[in-house]
Amino acid sequence: MPDINELIDELRCAHVAASQGGGERFRARHAERGKMFVRDRIEFILDPGTAFLELSPLAAHGLYGGEVPGAGIVTGIGVIHDHPCMIIANDATTKGGSFFAETVRKHSRAQEIAEQHKLPCIYLVDCGGAFLPEQDRVFPDKDHFGGGFWRQCRMSAAGIPQISVVFGGCTAGGAYIPALSDQVVMVKGTGRIHLGGPPIVKAAINEIVDGETLGGAEMHTNVSGVSDHIAADEETALQKLREIVANLGDGRRIASPQQEACVPLAAHGETQDHVPVDLKRPIKMRALIKTMTDGSEFSEFKPDYGKTLVTGFAHVHGYPVGIIANDGALFSESSVKGAHFIELCDQRQIPLIFLQNITGFMVGSEAERGGIAKHSAKLVYAVSNARVPKYTILVGGSYGAGNYGMCGRGFRPRFLFSWPNSRIATMSPDVASTVVTDLRRASLKSSASEKDIIALDAKTRAQFEEQSDPYYATARLWDDGIIEPNQTRDVLGLCIALAAGEDQDTGPRPVYRM
Ligand code: COA
Repeated sequence: MPDINELIDELRCAHVAASQGGGERFRARHAERGKMFVRDRIEFILDPGTAFLELSPLAAHGLYGGEVPGAGIVTGIGVIHDHPCMIIANDATTKGGSFFAETVRKHSRAQEIAEQHKLPCIYLVDCGGAFLPEQDRVFPDKDHFGGGFWRQCRMSAAGIPQISVVFGGCTAGGAYIPALSDQVVMVKGTGRIHLGGPPIVKAAINEIVDGETLGGAEMHTNVSGVSDHIAADEETALQKLREIVANLGDGRRIASPQQEACVPLAAHGETQDHVPVDLKRPIKMRALIKTMTDGSEFSEFKPDYGKTLVTGFAHVHGYPVGIIANDGALFSESSVKGAHFIELCDQRQIPLIFLQNITGFMVGSEAERGGIAKHSAKLVYAVSNARVPKYTILVGGSYGAGNYGMCGRGFRPRFLFSWPNSRIATMSPDVASTVVTDLRRASLKSSASEKDIIALDAKTRAQFEEQSDPYYATARLWDDGIIEPNQTRDVLGLCIALAAGEDQDTGPRPVYRM
C-alpha cells in the first residue's frame, strides 16, 4: 500500500498533466497563433501574489480516452483589484474548448458558487460550443448548456457582474456566453462571435462568408455592438478586463476576521502526518484537527457523550468555525449530539466544517431498537436546515448514509474537497462483495458453482474499488477537487472568507435538541 507522500506525488503529477491541456500538438498550434495559454491568461489578470483556488482541475480525468483533461475548462476563484472573482476560462487546446458533459457541470458549478457568494464572473471565452458527438449529454436537459445561460441571466439581473473576454472562435453556445455578458472585450484578429460559423451559414442560407467578416472583433465592436471594446492583442484585452473590474464599484470584498489569525502549533505536526492510507486504521481526529486550527486550539463540545462524533469550536484563519468530525461509526448518541451542535452553530451563526471519515450509521438490532433510524434522521435534518455556510472535507471514507449525515454533496456544502486517500461509495468493496453475492446467491443457486460465486464476488469488489477511488469521484464532479491534506487549512480559510460578512438569516427556527 502506498504511503501518503506517494499519494501526494501522484496527485501533483495528475495536476501537472491536466494543466497541459490538449497536449503538445495543440499547444504548439495555439502558441503559433500568438495566443496565450489559459492558465497564463488567468495569472495575468489576478492581483500579483494572490492565491487562485482552482476548482475540479481533474474533471473528466480518465474519461474520453484521456483526451479532455480538466474537461477543457479552468475554473476557480481569484482576486482582481481586491475583488474576489469567479474565473471561468475555456482551454482551446482541448477540442477547441468545446463542452462535454463534465465541462457543462464544471461551468455550472462555478456559476453556482459565484451566485451563492455574489462573485463577479469573468469568462475567458475560447469555445466551440457543444462537443457535437456528445450533444445529447450536453444540450437539451435542465442542467445542460442552457442552464448555464439561465444562471448567467439570473446573476446579471441580481447585480452580479458578468464580463467576457473573447479570444477565439466562439460559435453557437460559445457565442452566447459573451452575448449574455454585461460587458465584452474582443481580441482583434482571433476573437470571433457567431451563432453559426461559415460552414453553417453556407449550409443554411448558401451565403459564402469568411469568419472575420461574419463575426470578427472589428465588426462586432464597430457595427453590431455585440462587443464593447476591441483590443489589439490578448494582453491589452486582459488589461482592459482588469480595468473593468476595478470600476465595478463597491461590490463584494472579502470580510476580514474579527480575530487575528495565528498558525497551528508546530508541536502538533503537519496535517498529513495524521493521515492513514489504510482506511481500516483509525484517524486520530482530535490530533488531526489541531494541525488545522488557529493556535491548535479546539474547544470540544460534549466530549464525554456520543464519543464517535467529535464536535467543537475553533478558529481557522481568524474566522470562528464549528467542527464536526468522525471518530468511529455514528450511533444514536453521536447523531443526536451532532444535531445539537449544529443547532448551536446555527443559533450563533458559526460556519460548520465536516471532516468525513465515516463507515455509516450503526446497524444491528440493538441500534435499531435504540431508534438509530430516527436519531440519524435528526442529524440529517439538522444538516439540511442549518442556515450557516457548511464545508466538507473527505479525509477518509465516506460511506452510506454517513455521507448524508456528514454533509455530503447532496446537502449543499458551499465547497466539498477530498483527500487523495479518501474513498466514497455506498459501502466499502469488502462489504459490497458480501452483500451483492448474498443478494444474488438465491437466484444463482440452482445453476451456480462456487467458481461463479467467487467470480461475482471479485467483480463486485473490483467495481466498488474502481468507483470509490477519489479520482473516479473528482472526474465526475462529485467534489470540488482533490487537495493535499496540508493545504486544507488554507483552502478552508479562503472559502470561509468568501462567505464572511454575508447577511445572516437569524429568524426563529425549530429547535431539535432532544
Ligand atoms: N464539436 C465537436 N468537435 C469539435 C467542436 C465541436 N463543437 N469544436 C472543435 N472540435 C474539435 C475538432 O473537430 C478538432 O478535433 P480533432 O483534432 O479530433 O479533429 C479539435 O476540436 C480542434 O478543433 P479545430 O477546429 O482544429 O481547432 P481551431 O482552434 O482551429 O478552431 C473552433 C476552434 C472552435 C473555432 C472550431 O473548431 C469550430 O468552429 N468548431 C465548431 C463550432 C461549432 O460549429 N459549434 C456548434 C456547436 S452547437
